[in-house]
Amino acid sequence: MTAVKTITETRAYARSDSKSAKLWERAQSVMPGGNSRTTVFMAPRPIYAAEGEGCWIVDVDGDRRLDLLNNYTSLMHGHAHPAITEAATRRLARGASFPLPTEEEIELAALIVDRVASIDHVRFTNSGSEAVMMAIKAARGFTGRPKIAKFEGAYHGSYDWAEVSLGPGPDEWGPAEAPASIAYSKGTPPSVLADVVVLPFNRTDLAVARIEREAKHLAAVLIDPMPNRAGLIPARHDFLRAVREVTAKHGICLIFDEVISFRLGYRGAQGLFDIRPDLTSLGKIIGGGFPVGAVGGRAEVMAVFDPRGGKPPVPHGGTFNANPVTMAAGLAAMRLMDEKAFDRLDEVGRKLRSGMDACFERAGLGAVTGMGSLFRLHPAPRNFVDYRSGAQSKEEAARLDRIHRQLIDHGILISPTGLGCLSTAVGESEVEYFLEVLNACLTKGASA
Ligand SMILES: Cc1ncc(COP(=O)(O)O)c(C=O)c1O
Repeated sequence: MTAVKTITETRAYARSDSKSAKLWERAQSVMPGGNSRTTVFMAPRPIYAAEGEGCWIVDVDGDRRLDLLNNYTSLMHGHAHPAITEAATRRLARGASFPLPTEEEIELAALIVDRVASIDHVRFTNSGSEAVMMAIKAARGFTGRPKIAKFEGAYHGSYDWAEVSLGPGPDEWGPAEAPASIAYSKGTPPSVLADVVVLPFNRTDLAVARIEREAKHLAAVLIDPMPNRAGLIPARHDFLRAVREVTAKHGICLIFDEVISFRLGYRGAQGLFDIRPDLTSLGKIIGGGFPVGAVGGRAEVMAVFDPRGGKPPVPHGGTFNANPVTMAAGLAAMRLMDEKAFDRLDEVGRKLRSGMDACFERAGLGAVTGMGSLFRLHPAPRNFVDYRSGAQSKEEAARLDRIHRQLIDHGILISPTGLGCLSTAVGESEVEYFLEVLNACLTKGASA
């Protein structure tokens, strides 16, 4: 499949007799809301994927879109990369999973340990959510303390503690120096809220002061150095350094959630920011497109999982942990990402974001945040600092929805929240195509 040069309508899914519509009908009779993954629901109904190759996806009604979402940042090389397909199918042909460890898990663990200075030991999970959960449990087990701190608006998967204050509204925020702990899921026990301290992102003095106040109860400070849901705003260096210093001073484990940000560089975001956390959660790109997660960190902390002396302080099972098909695919995907590949991706990312800036300037609306291969489209310019500064008015949210829908209907896939990312399959012609479509969408009525 090659890049398209002219903008085409991709709206076959919207017809009432489309294949997507029929699948959706059937889905609703067997799944709540026809849905098994909240993130991929799209009103009035989702578009069903048929297949993908490189940076293109074909839906079940035959329309092609440039994939700038890559299963929410997890595909580093787009779809059906020959080396990854070959590694996974070769492994699969020899058995999908075993009640015994396999060689592949050692190879992928060694690659991660080799690249990331803060990681001495690694354990694998099946998702980023589990990786965050196990990092938090490790920190609790290691320190013997009950509470964690996390940053307002940051997403870390669906573990109860990690979900607190993921999407509070302005009426729930509370004071900037002590943001309120707000449940995301109905039914979250009050004890969970009492054990999660919420911090303001990028506000060094306020965050450090709150950590100091709570220090003796804190097992961990959990941070994503560029939290997507909080606006994909990079952490300031001095802020990260201050968080590292105050956590070290009080024996609090610093957990870097690099489930997304690991795609920022050969040594992850922590390599770029030159920070050594105690624990790191990984996911997405390290599985080569298969379900995956990992928790890694200092040997002393990771020792809570060590089963050699009997039941470990923090037991960690998981039927499919480190399954060899995921490990083989992940290894193939990660080996392709050498330092040169990251440099090239950064360069394409810079071009894409500066092109987006130019589009927004011409249209007089919107903004883009992000770094490396990640970008997020915002419906209004702002001084982006943290979750609160990126909050959208109703009109802005409606504008983003219009832009997203027009992109979807003209051959481009990004997330409804404006998140997008590159794969190594994206070249200059695809970037040009995206910018052309974005420009047309912005001038066509997204500004209405
Ligand atoms: C920063 C971050 N942490 C954790 C997760 C959870 O990962 P998973 O969806 O694999 O459970 C995500 C998912 O998008 C994420 O973005």
